[in-house]
Amino acid sequence: MTVYLVGAGPGDPDLLTVRAARILSSADIVVFDRLAEPVLSLAPPGARLIDVGKQRGDSWTQASITALLVDLGRDGLDVVRLKGGDPYVFGRGGEEAEALIAAGVDVEVVPGISSALSAPAAAGIPVTHRGLSDMVTVVTGHRQPGDETDWDTLARLGGTVVVLMGVGDRAAIARRLIRGGRHGATPFAAIHAATTIDQTVTRGRLDELGDTPIEAPATLIIGPVASLNLASLRSVVAS
Ligand SMILES: C[S@@+](CC[C@H](N)C(=O)[O-])C[C@H]1O[C@@H](n2cnc3c(N)ncnc32)[C@H](O)[C@@H]1O
Repeated sequence: MTVYLVGAGPGDPDLLTVRAARILSSADIVVFDRLAEPVLSLAPPGARLIDVGKQRGDSWTQASITALLVDLGRDGLDVVRLKGGDPYVFGRGGEEAEALIAAGVDVEVVPGISSALSAPAAAGIPVTHRGLSDMVTVVTGHRQPGDETDWDTLARLGGTVVVLMGVGDRAAIARRLIRGGRHGATPFAAIHAATTIDQTVTRGRLDELGDTPIEAPATLIIGPVASLNLASLRSVVAS
């Protein structure tokens, strides 16, 4: 009947919204991404689970996932499309919603806690902090042809830069921010697999970022707040 675009949060099932947990617990079918796997245990035992993680080297493309959702939605079942973090933050949830609406399928979005804010919290980093940063920019580090981020402007803007999908291009990102005016000594923090049992936090200076080993998925925090290590989100999974 309805396709629910549900945000799974950063990983710890405890960080699902109450609404997401309720909808997930009565789903007929769950179509999930790799980053949403940790919360799958909340799906009912009889639910059909479809793994469309695009990074497993299998044949799922965004177009085939969208087509699958349209087909399932037309079959009259309650479908949960489970995405890591928030479905509308670099999650292609908007594209899926557009396709479902165009096909006449009922669709609803359930926001999730984005890694953009929860990964820094898991490392004890407030993304804004009086006297250090009054602005936060969330940006993708995954470059696409013709879709170039203006790192010079970002560097001049100041504040905290949160980079998702930036591990692979971290050397270029650091170079561009420094070229744009950020000081090489600006702190960075990289939070890998935030709120999961594999969580690690790596800290350093921006001019060291390119040479620092960091495993994906990770959220990069660049700016003065990255040196803070205050009260952190103590994940039940990570603790
Ligand atoms: C395709 S984007 C999806 C973002 C997601 N919609 C959100 O709101 O968190 C995937 C990127 O999010 C970040 N990410 C997702 N889960 C994470 C986690 N548990 N720890 C750290 N970073 C994470 C990483 O930068 C990863 O490459």
